[in-house]
Amino acid sequence: MSHRIAVLPGDGIGPEIVAQAVRVLQALDLPLQLEEAPVGGAAYEAAGHPLPPATLELAKGADAVLFGAVGDWKYDSLPRELRPEQAILGLRKSLGLFANLRPAVLYPELAHASTLKPEVVSGLDILILRELTGDIYFGTPRGVREAPDGAFTGLREGFDTMRYAEPEIRRIAHIGFQSARKRNKRLCSVDKANVLETSQLWRDIVIDVAREYPDVELSHMYVDNAAMQLVRAPREFDVIVTGNLFGDILSDEAAMLTGSIGMLPSASLNEQGQGLYEPSHGSAPDIANQDKANPLATILSAAMLLRYSLNLSAQADRIEQAVRTVLAQGLRTADIYQPGDTLVGTRAIGDAVIQALK
Ligand code: NAI
Ligand code: MG
Repeated sequence: MSHRIAVLPGDGIGPEIVAQAVRVLQALDLPLQLEEAPVGGAAYEAAGHPLPPATLELAKGADAVLFGAVGDWKYDSLPRELRPEQAILGLRKSLGLFANLRPAVLYPELAHASTLKPEVVSGLDILILRELTGDIYFGTPRGVREAPDGAFTGLREGFDTMRYAEPEIRRIAHIGFQSARKRNKRLCSVDKANVLETSQLWRDIVIDVAREYPDVELSHMYVDNAAMQLVRAPREFDVIVTGNLFGDILSDEAAMLTGSIGMLPSASLNEQGQGLYEPSHGSAPDIANQDKANPLATILSAAMLLRYSLNLSAQADRIEQAVRTVLAQGLRTADIYQPGDTLVGTRAIGDAVIQALK
């Protein structure tokens, strides 16, 4: 059976880095059907919309989407609904992507890039799983109003609603346990159950779902403590599952532990196991078309695609191992270069990964 992959390169460095990930996928000799379509500013230029119907249909019909990045300062004056970034929001919404997976891996050769001491982070390999569709970002009512009563009567107050429905918690919890199963079978659920009603429900449901995964060790942590532990002893974690707000903050914190934005992949999944896979960074227009961009975050996103949407974990391992080999050879793009390394370009990194696969 052949797997359909929608390839959406986008803007800036998107096409260069996606081209390398595509070459790596092709080098595996798997039955993959790769189909490319424009997205973001490139799609606006070609079809007048950042997410044209044909691109959306291709993404919906595919088993997975490999996405580069969108955006460029030259589109800043466009109305909001035509800006490149709307494509990502549109894809998330149309595909029902509710689970955001962000691994934070610190390769031994890049330990110098971390904000922490090598003895604290060397060998770090954790996965942060963030719920994407609920929580205080989308809860209603929300707004700015005149304070109804109390000490601030008559003055303006802003308010948002933190809200999670049971099925929303249940489905992200399942992804948490399933991801832990694919790794070291340890899941830490992060909440603020000592203060928040939403978090108490969150905790109850995670505990309930845990009964279906007796082989996974579940722990709970308050978010303030989790923020501390991530910089004190990050290697104590394996998989962290948390809500939209806490996950937004913790995943950025974890990204900084690795220090190199060009190395971080991500995945967003829906209930059918379809997923959108993209590097965590943006379109980096400052270095576009100069063969300078680091393609490894995108190549590692392709590995996640094989693992989470196509169930080809052994092939995903092969790619990740090849990336380790290339780093061990001392080959680096400028973003992770240190004196003594060999400075190479985007395409040469792709060549080296393909060579290492053999
Ligand atoms: P950015 O991540 O594109 O760039 C930040 C800095 O990191 C730049 O100096 C860039 O050169 C560098 N960088 C990023 N990726 C790199 C790579 N693979 N290799 C080497 N260096 C790399 O973030 P910025 O500058 O804030 O945004 C640029 C554009 O990207 C904006 O239009 C923004 O809206 C868009 N963006 C798109 C995202 C997406 O498509 N999912 C996510 C974030 C930003
Ligand atoms: Mg954020």
